Amino acid sequence: MITLIGGAAILTVVLFLVVRSFSAQIAQQSQDNVLGASARSILDAAVIRDGQVEVDFPYASFSMLSTPSDDRIFYVIYQDDKVLSGYHDLPLPTLLDDPDTKFLTNSYLDETVRQAVVSRQLVGAGLRTRITVSVAQTQENFAGTLARISRNALIFGAGFFCLSLLLALWTTSATIGPLRRLANSVAQRGPKDLRPIAKPVPSEMAPLVSSLNTLMGRLGQSLNQSEEFIAEAAHRVRTPLATVRSHAEATLHRVDKEDNRNALKAMIRAIDESSRAAGQLLDHAMITFRADHLERHEVDFAALVDDVIDRLNPIAEMKDVEFTTRGDRPIIVSGDPILLQNAVRNLIDNALKYSPSESEIAVELRAAPSPRLILQDQGPGFVPEEIETLSMRFTRGRNAQGTVGSGLGLAIAQDVAMAHGGALVLENRKEEGACVTFSL
Ligand SMILES: Nc1ncnc2c1ncn2[C@@H]1O[C@H](COP(=O)(O)OP(=O)(O)O)[C@@H](O)[C@H]1O
Ligand SMILES: [Mg+2]
Repeated sequence: MITLIGGAAILTVVLFLVVRSFSAQIAQQSQDNVLGASARSILDAAVIRDGQVEVDFPYASFSMLSTPSDDRIFYVIYQDDKVLSGYHDLPLPTLLDDPDTKFLTNSYLDETVRQAVVSRQLVGAGLRTRITVSVAQTQENFAGTLARISRNALIFGAGFFCLSLLLALWTTSATIGPLRRLANSVAQRGPKDLRPIAKPVPSEMAPLVSSLNTLMGRLGQSLNQSEEFIAEAAHRVRTPLATVRSHAEATLHRVDKEDNRNALKAMIRAIDESSRAAGQLLDHAMITFRADHLERHEVDFAALVDDVIDRLNPIAEMKDVEFTTRGDRPIIVSGDPILLQNAVRNLIDNALKYSPSESEIAVELRAAPSPRLILQDQGPGFVPEEIETLSMRFTRGRNAQGTVGSGLGLAIAQDVAMAHGGALVLENRKEEGACVTFSL
């Protein structure tokens, strides 16, 4: 638009100058025509009578020059080099034998005057002489005309500029419009919507749309591939580990020697740890992927939490840990159930892991101000200096020594909370224990 307006401004200035100079030329020409006619009418009145030159001015010679602004008129008549009549100091060009009327702009009595000069040979009885007539007129009227012309040209130019401005606006919006509509239709798409763009666009934009469509096709393909890869990798890592573990356990039952038994136990622990780490790594990869392409469903968050607790209950029972659940239900949220389950499982798993045996974990569910799960345990709580950093990937606390883990649980929970527009808040209770708030 700036380019178009700039162009219009330059055109306007050029137009203004051209119109003004052209109109000034025409105005000057019409003044010249009258001046020339006046000078010629005087010259035509010159006759030779009784061997003398006589000039009897017609009245019209000067009256034709009258203007509304009362311009002053000067004249001079020469017979050869001698002034016959008029203003003898009116400047005069040296005329050659030229039948045409000459026009010039001169300065006389501190005023600019336009001057017409004509000359002719008079031949009479025994006399041959050259009569030169010059009529000059001040230029006040002409200046007025010029000012009027300039003003009109200016108005005309301004009108032209306004029109160009409107045209520029119209052209720009007509050009940008389809582009903006295209951008909007792409921006409004859901994160998983990689369908090709079908909206009709101007033919100039067709290459852009077609390369965008190709890109989305490739993107869709690679998204599918990575989804498949994550599932495949999870399967490939977990299954053999489970097999190795069950073999190791079976062998443990058959072996009597204490040394061998200890080695097998250490092996089983290591397998547990790596299958857990692999599992969490894959969970984390899956969560990063799904959080970027959040698939929202209506989920009862309270029921989801109950379900996770049910599944972890066997571990809780082994430790004599009891869950007390209270709060609102159902809590219907719009979110990805797999992600939510994963996050909640990691948080409850932590609470279990860091709780002493024969303790209680308080599970509180709130629907307002935003859906949230508050977990309070009676364990050692967080190390206060570490609270800021614990939610980072692969970060474990000082209090975690002796427990299995990869430092990914809180990172997963935080990613999931943030993907749902919420947050994960870690605090210590006033009494012993940690308080974790997972909000959506
Ligand atoms: N309920 C809790 N009580 C005390 N400390 C906790 C609790 N939950 C988490 N933590 C601390 O936060 C750290 C990070 O937790 P997490 O990311 O789940 O990793 P991991 O459980 O694998 O160590 C833990 O290592 C632990 O120090
Ligand atoms: Mg954990």
